[in-house]
Amino acid sequence: MLPPGPGKLFSISAARRLLRDPPGLITDFTARYGPVWRTHLPDRGRLKDLVWLMGPEGNERILAATHKDDFSWHEGYRFTMEPIFGATTLILLDGAAHRTRQRALQPAFHARMDGDHGAAMREIAEGRFAGWRRGETIDLAGELKRISFHVVARQFLGAADAEIPPLTRLFEEIGLGLFSVFKVPLPGTRFHRGVKARRALAGLLAERIRDYRRSGAIPANMLGSLMRSEDDAGEPLPDETLVSEMLALVFAGYDTTSSLLTSLWVELGRRPEIHAALQGEARALGEATPQASSEQPLLDAALQEAERLHPPLVFCLRGATRDLTFRGFEIPAGSKVAYSAHYTGRMPELFERPLEFRPERFLDGWRPPAYAMVGFGGGPRACIGKRFAQIEMRLITTLILQRWDFEFLPGQSDEMYYNPTPQRRHGFQVRIR
Ligand code: HEM
Repeated sequence: MLPPGPGKLFSISAARRLLRDPPGLITDFTARYGPVWRTHLPDRGRLKDLVWLMGPEGNERILAATHKDDFSWHEGYRFTMEPIFGATTLILLDGAAHRTRQRALQPAFHARMDGDHGAAMREIAEGRFAGWRRGETIDLAGELKRISFHVVARQFLGAADAEIPPLTRLFEEIGLGLFSVFKVPLPGTRFHRGVKARRALAGLLAERIRDYRRSGAIPANMLGSLMRSEDDAGEPLPDETLVSEMLALVFAGYDTTSSLLTSLWVELGRRPEIHAALQGEARALGEATPQASSEQPLLDAALQEAERLHPPLVFCLRGATRDLTFRGFEIPAGSKVAYSAHYTGRMPELFERPLEFRPERFLDGWRPPAYAMVGFGGGPRACIGKRFAQIEMRLITTLILQRWDFEFLPGQSDEMYYNPTPQRRHGFQVRIR
C-alpha cells in the first residue's frame, strides 16, 4: 500500500506551501495522515512521489548507517542544487566519491583549526560591535547574519572585508534561487536571479583560484585545502569543482548558523530570566574562547533548546535507491523521501511542554531519546560543519552576553519566510542599553 496523501491534483499547491510554510504543511499533514504520508514534487519536468517519514523511527530509517545504501543524496537534492551549484559538490555525491571528498574537507573542520576559526570569529564580531551605539535600535537578525556570512567568507574563501557586501548580496540571491518551485530561468524569476548570481560568483572565484595558482601561494583556508586535495584517480580537483564546492560550503555555512542564533535571541527576549542567567554565566567566565563551553552549561542547554524548537533545516531530502517499506507502506525506488527535525523536536511524546523554550530540560544531564533531535542530521553523513557552527554560536553569543545589554522591543512581527532556513521577514529589533 502506498502512503496516504493529498493526491497529484493538489501537488503544486502542496509544493508551494512547502516552500512558503514548511512547518505548517508538515504539522497539518502529519495530523491529517499519520506519521507516513506522500506528496509530490516537480523534479526535472516530472512529478515525483515524496514520502515523509515523521518521528524518530523515520529519522533513524533515513539517517542510520545501517540503511545508508537505501538512500541517495544526489537523487534527493539534485533537482534543487544541481542547477545552482553543479553536480560535483559534497552534498550531491554518494558512495566512494562522497567519502573521498569528505576526507579532503575534513582538515578544514578539524579541532586544531578551532583557535584560528575562533580568532577570526571574535575579530569579525568585534568589528561589527564597533558600529553599535548605546540608545540605538539595531536589527539583531541582520547583524547576526552579517557576522556569520563574514566569518565563512573569510575562513573558507579568504575574502577581504571590502568584498563582504557584494558577496552577501550574491549569496542571498543564490538562496532564493535554490528554493524556488519552478527551475525555469525566465528573466525576473527568483531562479533566474539565482543562476545569474551563481555565474557572477563563479567568475570571481575562478579568478581567485587562478591568482593563487599563478603566485604559487596556496592559502591555509578551506579553498586552499581543497586546491591541495585529489580525487580518487589521484588528480587535483578541476577548477569548476573547486568553485562549486566553495559556493555550496559558504551557502551551507552561514544562513543555518545565523537562523539558529536569531531564533535563540528571539527566545531570550521572551524569557528575560534565562537571558539574565546566561549573562551571569558569561560574565563570570573571563575571556570567551572556543574551548570555554564546559564552563557554560546553561548556554549549551539554550543552544540545544533553540536547535530543538527552531532547526534551520526544517526538513531534509533523499532519493530511495530501491523499493523500500516503512511501517507497512511501500516506497517505490526513485521516490523522494523526507525527514523533519522540526516535527520530531516538537513531539509531545518526546518532549514535555514541547512548544515552550525551556533550556532547563537539558540541564542535569538529561538527554533526548535516540533520533529525537536531528537538527544537524545524523549517522555517517551528519553535518560536516557542526563543530564549526557550534563554536561560532557559543563564541558570538558569549561575546554579546558579556558586553551588551538589550531592551527587547515588544510587538514585533513574527512573520517568517524560508530561504530555505527560517528567516524573520521584518528582522528582530533590539535597543542597546
Ligand atoms: C547551525 C548551523 C547548522 C545546521 C543546523 C546544519 C544542519 C545540517 C543538516 C541537518 C545536515 C544534514 C542534511 C541532510 O540530512 O540531508 C547538514 C549537512 C551539511 N552541512 Fe550543515 N548545518 C549547520 C552549519 C553548517 C556549517 C557551518 C557548514 C560549513 C560548511 C555546514 C556544511 C554542511 C555540509 C557540507 C553538509 C553535507 C554533509 C555531507 O554531504 O556529508 N553546515 N547540515
